[in-house]
Amino acid sequence: MKKNNKSVKWKGIILAGGYGTRLKPVTKAISKQLLPVYNKPMIYYPLSVLMLAGIKDILLITTKDNINNFKAILGSGKNLGIKLHYKIQKKPNGIAEAFIIGQQFIGTSNVCLILGDNVLYGQGLKFFLKNAMSRSKGATIFGYPVKDPSRFGIAELDKNNKIKKLVEKPKKPKSNLAIIGLYFYDKTVAELTKRVKKSPKGELEITDLNKLYHQKSTLNIEIFGRGFAWLDTGTYESLIDASNFIYIAEKRQGLQIACIEEIAYNNGWISKKTLHKVARENSNTDYGKYLLNIVKNK
Ligand code: TTP
Repeated sequence: MKKNNKSVKWKGIILAGGYGTRLKPVTKAISKQLLPVYNKPMIYYPLSVLMLAGIKDILLITTKDNINNFKAILGSGKNLGIKLHYKIQKKPNGIAEAFIIGQQFIGTSNVCLILGDNVLYGQGLKFFLKNAMSRSKGATIFGYPVKDPSRFGIAELDKNNKIKKLVEKPKKPKSNLAIIGLYFYDKTVAELTKRVKKSPKGELEITDLNKLYHQKSTLNIEIFGRGFAWLDTGTYESLIDASNFIYIAEKRQGLQIACIEEIAYNNGWISKKTLHKVARENSNTDYGKYLLNIVKNK
């Protein structure tokens, strides 16, 4: 019998380790992903993406030194109606290592991986996420046109917009499509990762894992177009750009971006009582006032 897509379970992983060397000395004592992007810890942004995708079972991978700080901010996830698990990555051995560390957590589910320093914002995000999750087999990655493609893993496409080639940080890029830090994989991902060899940098590269899916003709790409914001926050300049972007968008529209309690409430995962509790705890901030407004009006 043909398996119905609805029976496929999706779990999520946020990879929030790394040394954050481009943000030294700030990151000497604190994880990059705990730094503020305007008015929230950076980690709220990737977490909100998984929650918008409807994913409730989430593994956060970070460093030994920072794991307790993440637990202090997010806890068990109960206040968000989700289940958060935590694991340590001993050192930054590459993005694909998330699937080795997370193998037991993933079990027989499909999995979405998002990097802890990726901020995504734009209309239609949920549609893109659902589209990727409608594929029970294979993998989906996302392309985003950038001005400086040689800093990224990039995808070259054929005339039918299918992936022709993936290249990691090309010196002479033949495409301006960067692969962003959001990936959807089927349940075979952990086993497939075991076939990835360490790169000359000594890392398990996500591009090499994606190439294995591509070789099997099961790698899909979705392109985020104009009007969509993908901000990475790895340098002082990009961090302040991201903060300014969120500040301006929120101020203009009066809507909070990556308000994880609002998403949980809209998903029907938490009660009005829980929302009210978080609103009161943050009542000195616009964030808390925003939540209070939702309690009153929805
Ligand atoms: P990077 O920006 O490549 O690395 P970094 O965060 O350590 O920063 P820097 O380059 O300034 O030293 O990592 C991108 C994201 O992926 C970031 O959220 C950290 C995460 N990451 C890990 O958690 N483990 C890893 O092994 C790698 C390679 C990245």
